[in-house]
Amino acid sequence: MSRTRPIVAIDGPAGAGKSTVARRLADALGYVLVDTGAMYRAVALVAKREGVAWSDGPALGELARGLVAKKALSFERDPGLGVRVKLLRAPPEDGAREDISEAIRMPDIAQGASTVSAHGDVRSVLLELQQLAGRGGGVVLEGRDIGTVVFPDAEVKFFLTASADVRARRRHSELVAKGQTVTFEETLADVKQRDAQDEGRAVAPLKKADGAVLVDSTDLTFEETVAQMLEHVKRVSAT
Ligand code: DC
Repeated sequence: MSRTRPIVAIDGPAGAGKSTVARRLADALGYVLVDTGAMYRAVALVAKREGVAWSDGPALGELARGLVAKKALSFERDPGLGVRVKLLRAPPEDGAREDISEAIRMPDIAQGASTVSAHGDVRSVLLELQQLAGRGGGVVLEGRDIGTVVFPDAEVKFFLTASADVRARRRHSELVAKGQTVTFEETLADVKQRDAQDEGRAVAPLKKADGAVLVDSTDLTFEETVAQMLEHVKRVSAT
């Protein structure tokens, strides 16, 4: 193994439970957690606020480059949320940061992140950020292209999935628990639309990476899913 501690890559479709599972694995292993979806979500949110269209690839690339250059986005580990995301306020002179962790979890921003993430300009900027965060190992990264593009040489790769119906059911319960008024049918339609968009894009589409272990959690509890994955990481780490 080239690194002392492995890179654990978790990819899969929306609502498969990647965030919760990644958080639990990172805690159990004492690894850093990198939520790459939060980066795309943050770009979508800032674009919306600044009036940059989610369809405008070059302008979004510029915006993402600016955010990275100014170190305007920061990601902190949070026991409850997984990752807390903060944005440097504009103008940045006073260095104050706004907590955007809740704002980036809204359904319209989820959709925006999926749209924004189809642009190669945006992906190349965030790719660098993700590689920088993970290259030393001892890290769990979750997203859509970690095992295929960001770290094709990751020591441990998972493709975590579940049926669309089950994923929508889980997502719907989460949203309702947060007090949002959304129907199950709307959530299912969102999940399916995001799947189609994430799998169908030309740049870094969502797919199972070579060598990734497929984990289908449709009929597994959360604890069973985590146990299966943790066992695999430990087995690989021991070799
Ligand atoms: O995992 P998430 O729901 O927070 O991700 C939001 C969107 O960001 C998702 O629909 C696709 C995009 N994404 C991506 O294209 N590549 C990643 N590595 C992570 C997320």
